[in-house]
Amino acid sequence: MCGIVGLVADEFQVLELIEALEKLEYRGYDSAGVAFLKDGSVKVYKNKGKVGMLRESLAASLSELTSTGIAHTRWATHGEPNDVNAHPHLDCSSKISVVHNGIIENFRQLKARLKEIGHNFVSDTDTEVIPHLIEEYYNGELLEAVRKALLRLEGSYAIAVVHADHPGVIVAARKGSPLVVGKGDCCTVLASDLTPLLRYTRDVIFLEDGEVALLKRNEVKVFGIDGLERTKSYNTINWSYESAQKSGYKYFMLKEINEEPQCIVSVLAGRVSSGKVILEEISQLEGVLKDSQTLKVVACGTSYHSALVFKHFVENNSDLTVDVDVSSEFRYRKPHIKPGEILVAVSQSGETADTLESIRLASRCGAKILSLTNVVGSTITRESDCVLYLNAGPEISVAATKSYLSQLILLYLLGLKIVELRGNWNEKSNELLDKILRLPEVFENVLKRSEVVESIARKYKNYRHFMYIGRGYGYPTALEGALKLKEISYIHATAYPAGELKHGPIAMLGPEFPVFAIAPGDSLVMKMKSNIIECKSRNAKIVAITNDANHEIEEVVDDVIFVNTTAEELYPILMTPVIQLFAYFVADNLGLDPDKPRNLAKSVTVE
Ligand code: G6P
Repeated sequence: MCGIVGLVADEFQVLELIEALEKLEYRGYDSAGVAFLKDGSVKVYKNKGKVGMLRESLAASLSELTSTGIAHTRWATHGEPNDVNAHPHLDCSSKISVVHNGIIENFRQLKARLKEIGHNFVSDTDTEVIPHLIEEYYNGELLEAVRKALLRLEGSYAIAVVHADHPGVIVAARKGSPLVVGKGDCCTVLASDLTPLLRYTRDVIFLEDGEVALLKRNEVKVFGIDGLERTKSYNTINWSYESAQKSGYKYFMLKEINEEPQCIVSVLAGRVSSGKVILEEISQLEGVLKDSQTLKVVACGTSYHSALVFKHFVENNSDLTVDVDVSSEFRYRKPHIKPGEILVAVSQSGETADTLESIRLASRCGAKILSLTNVVGSTITRESDCVLYLNAGPEISVAATKSYLSQLILLYLLGLKIVELRGNWNEKSNELLDKILRLPEVFENVLKRSEVVESIARKYKNYRHFMYIGRGYGYPTALEGALKLKEISYIHATAYPAGELKHGPIAMLGPEFPVFAIAPGDSLVMKMKSNIIECKSRNAKIVAITNDANHEIEEVVDDVIFVNTTAEELYPILMTPVIQLFAYFVADNLGLDPDKPRNLAKSVTVE
């Protein structure tokens, strides 16, 4: 989704705005732009395409010094991606410049009215009404003019505004779209998320909906939409600047997959003691988790797949029923939620619009919200009763990798807590917890096999279709494998429970339609084997992932990738890096950039 940055300091090079913008590229966008104050006017540069193109077109100005600048990556919603529709947008006097993330729902009415009173518009965007409205209200007081303009807007926004006559000032505001502001040494900075801020500061304020921030070189003030100043406290972020860099890896996605062993350590830290799961964050929910008949879970995309694994795990190991829903479906159905029930929201970003609306719906019905997310201070965390953090560090690549792995581990811990609370704990639970604690070493082993995965990926990269199959715990892994492949390689990949093949999908198979089988040596291995043989007899090539005690699968497949042998429940964790690396190497070998897949965004903050 769109990304915003802004910087105020005594003096800085325009290049810094571009570098900050590059930190937001992973969010997905189609055009980019920058505005900065110079010699009493606002200079604007913008274009369709990548931030790299903006960098080139600005080449002569990159070393120019300014005190105040804003920049933007746009993901088109109103008006096609082109140079004119790119942000920043200007008012008639070309003194007021605005960047915006979100959608102004009443922009048509506002635009018509503003035109009637003489304003000239140049773009097709909803955003352009904002600088013109501010111009209408401006009488020397920028903050006040912005506040009055905001009162006219319906919809969602995060905005940053500069004015040629106000060097050293940015006014920013948020309603429904994330915005973080920070104060560094002799500078203040804002962005749609934390990554661009880390270079300047660890002390940040997450703006709330309806808040307006005034950034000057040495201070940040926050006001309500009523104009009254609010006291805000800073959150200290412990992510390092280095952790948001590539550290020698070709792409962030590869770096982030290789960080997975460390993610396991981080997500487990402080959460297991004396053979028991400790989740202090959810202590107020324990009574409900103990006595409920069912637990509802909402999530989107990759997070939905980790939630499906959770369902299998909890239902197989306790007497609790778990209903998992895609958030965009849940929010438009009649909610069968009673006061006091729990809704679990899984979202790595903590900003996904459909998941956010689902928890709002459930809250209105009196539910308690438990969220699992990676981003401290994100909107979902602020609207939840309890939060379990993934502690995975910044994930830059659009395709979720290490955050999925961290979600899985955290959901297993939550599952084991539920098992304990409901009196279903037994010797098997002890063994599972023990095996989870030993995962980091085993994981290093799986990652060492990445060359095998790469050579298989090279062999299969030119197929245009792929069918992923799995059973039981393997089915969510099949769904996630297919999602990863289509997201970053644009190869059509579909996933089915292997038992469904005969009900339609097998008609597709043939020499041009290979199958990726999730086939660990678990209790369903013989069923999987016969499904694989059915596919083979349709002349489909078969790639399988299995465990190193299940060599007999080699007889019926074309290519095989082994992971360590573990408990049946834990194969979704061990197979995670394999499906991710397979998709990564296919994309890389096709010459595609896996970090920035076309049409996709990391954080989907609009419906
Ligand atoms: C986007 C991302 C996916 C992610 C999904 C849900 O589509 O590209 O990688 O799985 O949103 O995001 P969330 O932040 O709620 O987990």
